[in-house]
Amino acid sequence: MFPAAIEWSSAAPPNSAFSIGLDAEMIGSFYVLSGEELTLPQAEIRALIETYAPAAKTQSLSSRVISSNLNDSALIQRVSRRAAYCRFGGEFLCAADSVQALADGISKSIIDPDSSFEVSSETLDRSLVGDLGALIKQRTGARVSLEEPQCVFQVESTDRGLVLGLSRSGFKKFSWRQRRPRARKFFLPSAIYPKLACLLVNLSRVKEGEVFLDPFCGTGSLLIESSLMGIRTIGSDLTRWIARGALLNLKGLSMDFEGILRCDATAAKLPFHSVDGISTDVPYGRASSTRGKETETIVREFSAQASEILARGKGSKYCVIMHPSHIKFDFDSTAFELAERHFIYVHRNLTRAVSVLRTR
Ligand SMILES: C[S@@+](CC[C@H](N)C(=O)[O-])C[C@H]1O[C@@H](n2cnc3c(N)ncnc32)[C@H](O)[C@@H]1O
Repeated sequence: MFPAAIEWSSAAPPNSAFSIGLDAEMIGSFYVLSGEELTLPQAEIRALIETYAPAAKTQSLSSRVISSNLNDSALIQRVSRRAAYCRFGGEFLCAADSVQALADGISKSIIDPDSSFEVSSETLDRSLVGDLGALIKQRTGARVSLEEPQCVFQVESTDRGLVLGLSRSGFKKFSWRQRRPRARKFFLPSAIYPKLACLLVNLSRVKEGEVFLDPFCGTGSLLIESSLMGIRTIGSDLTRWIARGALLNLKGLSMDFEGILRCDATAAKLPFHSVDGISTDVPYGRASSTRGKETETIVREFSAQASEILARGKGSKYCVIMHPSHIKFDFDSTAFELAERHFIYVHRNLTRAVSVLRTR
């Protein structure tokens, strides 16, 4: 929990979040999403909040900003650092309809006067961001540092007005470049980028120490991301040399993982058990990579096995499948329900769908 995160300077602040119509119960943290993709960034944050705090609620404030009543600073940091499409996550300070009113809403002691801070925004005009920085400096006595700030104030314009948040641990920078498909030891054109792979792992709602499986692992893009998150990672691929290539990629990046098998993921008895979550990018397009099976058949046959290998008795489990949107998505509906579906436009002839299945 936050140590006195919100200390209003007057008893009844005129610029409280409630006056601009935010639900009182949603005031704990907020997250700023990158502008790419339509519904996936919000889905990723909701999935991670569900992973770490199943009882917490979320509310969308605009397409780029989502708030939650999650108010545990360690969990807010974990969620926002794991989320591939999140630019900021921090404690919710206040909301108002002007920059001046926002500054009036923060307590003088919100940060140590000896510390440094930066004000950042994805949606607000730079001059307004500068004005807010000057007002926070005046109010708290802290100094502005754009190079290495100890705290980041984040201000965003939302459908409900301006919101202000604070991250006391600065903010993350991802290093996707080092893990891009071409930079790995083993490459195939079907390899996906680490940012998307990270998101797919996050949608499976698996935590550190739990078991994650990608049964159609290809070059191992999802396996790399889940290993990096401290998740016990297993993978498989139908083709021996591809499974070996994935192994080479994970070893090449010094990843800690459980194993990668050569295995047909549509077979009747799969050699896995007690898996906490599955996410995968099923084969399509080239008959050679599917040994002649249609993608529809692969999805149907794998989903019929998937519920058998998921761990039982610990609440719902998820199986996330990325597939071309045009296929008939036929899954085992006795074991799973379709919880969500999202779309990613790739080019004129390909839109991907991400179908999130949840055990019944
Ligand atoms: C779309 S690719 C996965 C790409 C992967 N996400 C990556 O980033 O490299 C699908 C993979 O499924 C494998 N595959 C095809 N049929 C399979 C089956 N029945 N069981 C397991 N793997 C299969 C193919 O060899 C291919 O490597």
